[in-house]
Amino acid sequence: MNTLRILMIGDVCGAAGRAIFQKHIDKIKRAHNINAIIVNGENCAHGRGITTKNVRFFEHNGVDVITSGNHIWKHKEIYPYLDEHSNLLRPANYPAATPGVGVTTFMVEGHRIGVVNLQGRVFMKELIDCPFYKADAIINQLKEKTNMIFVDFHAEATSEKMALSFFLDGRVSAVVGTHTHVQTADERILPGGTAHITDLGMTGSFNSMLGMKKEPIIHNFLTALPVRFTPDNATPIVMSGAWIEVDTETGKALKIQRVMIIDNDLIVGSEDD
Ligand SMILES: [Fe+2]
Ligand SMILES: [Fe+2]
Repeated sequence: MNTLRILMIGDVCGAAGRAIFQKHIDKIKRAHNINAIIVNGENCAHGRGITTKNVRFFEHNGVDVITSGNHIWKHKEIYPYLDEHSNLLRPANYPAATPGVGVTTFMVEGHRIGVVNLQGRVFMKELIDCPFYKADAIINQLKEKTNMIFVDFHAEATSEKMALSFFLDGRVSAVVGTHTHVQTADERILPGGTAHITDLGMTGSFNSMLGMKKEPIIHNFLTALPVRFTPDNATPIVMSGAWIEVDTETGKALKIQRVMIIDNDLIVGSEDD
């Protein structure tokens, strides 16, 4: 049986997230015999959005596909890139008129792998299509090209994430959650052979609030006054995700393992790096 291991990393936040990614990605790759890397990059530019410079950073560090979510629209300079390239995805269930696509394929050691990015609707304000019907339509088409399909479901509610995983069970290799930035301990293989984790967790400052400085956020809870969110680059820094081992013929997941590295000694550059 031929197998591949695909590493999926949760929302990379600002300079801290980029620094830990750069420092540890090759070590993780070697330690776990990783064949391909998918990373959620929606927060890597100063905590919100992504720039073409950030895309080059991920390409330089061996990333195959960058997924995203609700923050993808923050920096308009990325819009043309989204239209012209398929290694950076936006959620597939945004209106057709928005830049970019939410599905792509890439080759690893002679095998084609599909990646789908979707966004949830529960407790999220964006006016987007139903992720379930959209996933159904995309996967029907994608199945003609490959059995190995990895879904990043960028959603808030655990219920919606579990429901999509069970809905797609047996048809895709993995459904992983992103967006909450809090890693869940529920990684498992569902009865039909789809790997699931409700959230990969985030890659950024460990003692932050989802990658942002916590003090203004606590102040907001205490006063209900508007606050400005700023990225937190203080150490320790955490890198979170999971890898999935998949049978290249059937596309079924054989194993899912969480990854979490905490680095106390990282030197973080400026946000503009
Ligand atoms: Fe995020
Ligand atoms: Fe998000």
